[in-house]
Amino acid sequence: MSRKRDMGRPDRVVWRDRRIHLASFLSRRSFAQLMSGMLGSLSLPRGAAAETEPISRIREMGHPGSGVGGAFPEGFVWGSATASYQVEGGVHEGGRGKTIWDTFTHIPGTIAHGDTGDVADDSYHRYKEDVAIMKALGLKGCRFSVAWSRIFPNGAGAPNQAGVDYYNRVVDELLGAGIEPYCTLFHWDLPQALEDKGGWQSRDTSQAFADYAGYTGGVLSDRVKHFMTMNEIRSFTELGYSEGRFAPGIKLNTGRFAQVNHWAVLGHGLAVGALRASTKAGTQIGLADNAQATCPVLDTAEHVKAAGIAMREQNAQYLTVILEGRYTEGYLKRLGKDAPKFTPEEMKAIGSPLDFVGLNVYQPTWVMADPAQEIGYTVVKDPASYPHMASPWLTVGPEAIYWSPKLVSELWGPKALYITENGCSSADVLTADGRVLDTDRVMYLRNYIGQLQRAVAEGMPVKGYFLWSLLDNFEWADGYGKRFGITYVDFKTQKRTPKLSSEFYKNLIGRNGLG
Ligand code: FCB
Repeated sequence: MSRKRDMGRPDRVVWRDRRIHLASFLSRRSFAQLMSGMLGSLSLPRGAAAETEPISRIREMGHPGSGVGGAFPEGFVWGSATASYQVEGGVHEGGRGKTIWDTFTHIPGTIAHGDTGDVADDSYHRYKEDVAIMKALGLKGCRFSVAWSRIFPNGAGAPNQAGVDYYNRVVDELLGAGIEPYCTLFHWDLPQALEDKGGWQSRDTSQAFADYAGYTGGVLSDRVKHFMTMNEIRSFTELGYSEGRFAPGIKLNTGRFAQVNHWAVLGHGLAVGALRASTKAGTQIGLADNAQATCPVLDTAEHVKAAGIAMREQNAQYLTVILEGRYTEGYLKRLGKDAPKFTPEEMKAIGSPLDFVGLNVYQPTWVMADPAQEIGYTVVKDPASYPHMASPWLTVGPEAIYWSPKLVSELWGPKALYITENGCSSADVLTADGRVLDTDRVMYLRNYIGQLQRAVAEGMPVKGYFLWSLLDNFEWADGYGKRFGITYVDFKTQKRTPKLSSEFYKNLIGRNGLG
């Protein structure tokens, strides 16, 4: 919060739209006069032609319903995101080792409808078709994850060449289609062999992750320029080792859970070092984090300041410790005797400098200033009427994608930011004539991307946006019941059908903005 920055630096924004350009040379009033003069001078014939005229005027004025306008900077990376266990299937193929999700999904009662990722979108076999879908959309980037157990079936030891070959084929297919690969090394599918030895409750897993990341980065970095160590550390630790709703389904007490978080962020930090050592010079290394998007309840100085404090404290054991290399005093005090045990060397590794920070942004955390609290803020509980998408947890707050990059930029000044995930679930229905009219998803995306444009226009260093997700896929404990794709997948036939939102995204990419 203390770090101030230049707001609205015009050099960061390339205005491609001619109309906006013209308007920026004229005062608002003279621009309006010019437009009304042009429209007023049109003489309207009677009859049918007169009736169609107002419609053509609307088209002249812009793209209806685009909300916040303005183009994104030249070269902005519009992409999509997926994760290995959620799309690949092929769980017994190519020498892949068992993961904690293979085990967990086969335990009755863990996943809605008893679904598993055994087949998922079958992308293991259909990756070429999926890349063709990306190409047709005009995507510039593809964020995918590598399944650790395809490379090291037991988590460590000798690499499995068949697994390496698979990702080589995926990367080559992407590059052949003119799409830049962005590789995540851990999207929650921990090799079961490592879980059997303690999983993230053991420091050995942090080291094994670094070894795997270093190896995989080494073989791919001749073509892959961006690596993310981990996806959403908070999600796989909290849901997997505290709440027990995700694999491996464990419920630890506060102290042991805090240590799991520590080994996870250490794994990230050690992996950054291993990647620096093994990848080609210039390789960009970061992570994809779901830092709670703390948003001020009102846009006033006191609440904005509170949201900044909350950004640090709510994310103390995740993004904050990674970007500062130390736990906040508030975090250590709150945990007291349950605080994690750590060494100065570990903290140094955790705080390894990054080339970029990836933010997964879905829903807001509303924060208000509260002088009665020692920490200075309160997180406001959503009222029962608060709107959400098909997933009850996915509350709607487009401002989240403005405040998250803004506060992260002001607090920590990252060199570059990416929105590594954003999107939503909808109760999609495939109509008899083969269409999915997901107007609610289009509404969600339009409003979030409008707020992202606001952050970019204010000079936040956001370089790209990866929509979650390209395809409907295996949504963890919700199984196939929650659809997040802009492409509909019939899980019986594997037929892919673009939804209305896919057309929306294609148009947006073509215009490099909402229009
Ligand atoms: C994120 C996960 C991703 C997907 C989306 C909906 O938290 O990273 O795998 O499940 O939510």
